[in-house]
Amino acid sequence: QEVLHGVLPGAEVLVVSNREPYIHNAMEAGRVVQRPASGLVSALEPIMRACGGTWIAHGSGSADREAVDENDRIRVSEVAPAYTLRRIWISEEEQDGYYYGFANEGLWPLCHIVFVRPTFRLTDWQMYRQINQRFADAVVAEAHTEDPVVLVQDYHFALAPRMIRERLPKATIITFWHIPWPNAETFGICPWRAEIIEGMLGSTIVGFHTQFHCNNFIEGVDRFVESRIDREVQTVSLGGHETRVRAYPISIEWPPSELEKLPPPAHCRSDVVAQFGLAEGTRLIVGVERFDYTKGILDRMRAVDALLSRNLAWRDRLVFVQVAAPTRSKLSSYSKLQAEAEELAAEINGSYPGRQPVIHLIARHYEPAEVFRLFRAANACVVSSLHDGMNLVAKEFVSSREDNAGVLILSSFTGASRELSEALIVNPYDTEEMASAIELALTMPIQEQAERMKLMRQQVKEHNVYRWAGAMLVDAARSRTRERVLGLA
Ligand code: G6P
Repeated sequence: QEVLHGVLPGAEVLVVSNREPYIHNAMEAGRVVQRPASGLVSALEPIMRACGGTWIAHGSGSADREAVDENDRIRVSEVAPAYTLRRIWISEEEQDGYYYGFANEGLWPLCHIVFVRPTFRLTDWQMYRQINQRFADAVVAEAHTEDPVVLVQDYHFALAPRMIRERLPKATIITFWHIPWPNAETFGICPWRAEIIEGMLGSTIVGFHTQFHCNNFIEGVDRFVESRIDREVQTVSLGGHETRVRAYPISIEWPPSELEKLPPPAHCRSDVVAQFGLAEGTRLIVGVERFDYTKGILDRMRAVDALLSRNLAWRDRLVFVQVAAPTRSKLSSYSKLQAEAEELAAEINGSYPGRQPVIHLIARHYEPAEVFRLFRAANACVVSSLHDGMNLVAKEFVSSREDNAGVLILSSFTGASRELSEALIVNPYDTEEMASAIELALTMPIQEQAERMKLMRQQVKEHNVYRWAGAMLVDAARSRTRERVLGLA
């Protein structure tokens, strides 16, 4: 946390993201605050609590408008220093084009390479541009200085960096892409590939989770945009402006503040045993994510099925709790997945009748405290994403296990698998391999679990989210100084 202080003394920090860190919902009981399920939010929120500043995001809750002042602002002051949340209102039509359309039917499947065909419509693209402009305008309106540090988050805002640069030429703009970046061949499918890349090149720094995604991005720049690339130092110059491309593996706060409020693992275990009515001696596997087709939820259920059909002895000794928070349900690719998963869970449960169901599929949002309680109760956690930028669930599971017990089963197609190599690394497309990994996890001696877990915990502790933000801010500070010294700014 100290890393963040003093890196950019006196600089004003503004964050731009689609998802807001707190959603206010109108319920019968009054206004209820919810923490959305979003890797981006879990990573950025502790940073903003540490730095202060302004976070500009889409107001998405039914009671969001009531919670703000006349300038659409709210003070988030749970922990000092407080920061300001500035809400942007988006109409349903704009949301359909910008968020559901271009961002989630176009860029999301394009970047994840999961065989869901990306859809690109001109009207969606126009809305995307319009909303990017609205957020860029909000940055200009919120900035009190001519050279703020602007942290642009994710694939919803590829065009905003250039739009901000046009109005605030001295700003330090750090754009972080939280999802994978595909190879040039794949990215070339997008009809507006050059505009997307040029928009991002308005940034001072473009960050990805892995070096592999940086390389893919630079290949795309090379293929689709007239610019000068220096591969050795990984910079791209376009129209006299230079952008650095760097890998910054995202992480979580350490220790997560949620854990302070939780009872120890053994206590969490008895709570969860009671909650699900687990029979004595049951091995518990858990999965927690948004109900998204990139997460490999069906694949891991099939792996559980494969394990049971291989070895029926597990029937009354294994329970798999899958929490999946519905997301983007307006899109048929999402609602279909949920229906298919529910059907598959029922089918698997039906084929192994026993004292307790094998699969509990919980299609609702879990608040962070509930998630951590489940993690602490589990014998194993499965993260079987078909493709994922980083995946913070893997790191959160590890962070929750102060008892050094529990096994992480982790897809090789996540950024996290580069860091957490002591997990059982699997190919989620290989059902039999995943079934074997689950069995291995459930029979792993406690000593081996502890050895693996300690190494993973050390890794996440050292490479926590403050380090992620610190590395970006140090690079930003360096480029500010350099521009000043060279008289570029
Ligand atoms: C991923 C994306 C984030 C997004 C989150 C939740 O982590 O990278 O940008 O906020 O999913 O998705 P949603 O569409 O609900 O914001």
